[in-house]
Amino acid sequence: IKTIGVLTSGGDAPGMNAAIRAVVRTALARGKRVMGIRKGYQGLINGDIFEMDARSVSDTIQRGGTMLYTARCIEFLQPEVQQRGADMCKVFGIDGLVVIGGDGSFKGAGKLANLGINTIGIPGTIDLDIDCTDYTIGFDTAVNTAMEAIDRLRDTSTSHERCSVVEVMGRDAGYIALWCGIVNGAEYVFLPEVQNIKEEELIEKILMNRKKGKRHNLIIMSEGVGGSDELAKRIEAATGIETRATILGHLQRGGSPTAVDRMHASMMGAYAVDLLCKGESNRVVGFKNNTYVDFDIDEALAMQKDISSRQYEVSQMLETR
Ligand code: F6P
Repeated sequence: IKTIGVLTSGGDAPGMNAAIRAVVRTALARGKRVMGIRKGYQGLINGDIFEMDARSVSDTIQRGGTMLYTARCIEFLQPEVQQRGADMCKVFGIDGLVVIGGDGSFKGAGKLANLGINTIGIPGTIDLDIDCTDYTIGFDTAVNTAMEAIDRLRDTSTSHERCSVVEVMGRDAGYIALWCGIVNGAEYVFLPEVQNIKEEELIEKILMNRKKGKRHNLIIMSEGVGGSDELAKRIEAATGIETRATILGHLQRGGSPTAVDRMHASMMGAYAVDLLCKGESNRVVGFKNNTYVDFDIDEALAMQKDISSRQYEVSQMLETR
């Protein structure tokens, strides 16, 4: 490998800059050239590519977002567009590529690997929904951001003796919601992974807790379940308690990455470059049982993980009773 390209793809996540920085500086330390690719696969097929040096990533480790910009490139599902991507790598002399993103981005990486570009994926998404790894870059920052926002909502909810329904991100996965359920001390968490939710039970619980002297109620709704506005209206109608819905939305994707995100991003970035230097391709970096590991992209995409049943059990035990 002589020249390593790096791109970020899909939704951005805090810590992506730290990962880019680690890729760039590790590659330079190993004597490789580095090319930054802007706007993910879109930038690759358009040739939006520039050479990076150690200074290119100065003053970025603490910044949210991605300095390389990102895009969701639907076009890249087409074989002729993938071929254009591989051809563009050749034009710029890129023989190794690091793709920072989620499952969709890894599918594209696998296609490029089949077309002869040595490609490695790094898991970057706030959703934690990549099955081959216990950690994805951005999750810790997003959960901390959501936690702080929900703490603030709790203040005003208590002052007004209201019920708060808070919707957090996660696409089809409930990891952010489950964590917030525990760390914010919510009364109820709606998760896409848990189907047997009984709304009558929730209403009864809210009323019972009020009788016990509780002055506010906090319900966490996962984006994958959705419908927080409607739920708030139904709770208000059934209980007579003023209820507000808040959708936290994209604020969960921004902000300076936490130490945990910066550390994983730095370690995974260096690991990815070392894989390329060993001649590896079609691999995804993961963090499992406190160790950095790597998997074949196709095997990684076929893996399945679920939310922690123990965490769910604890979240239920700690709800007000
Ligand atoms: O994958 C990250 C994520 O923020 C999800 O939690 C959410 O469903 C989605 O991206 C939102 O995507 P967009 O930024 O394209 O609206």
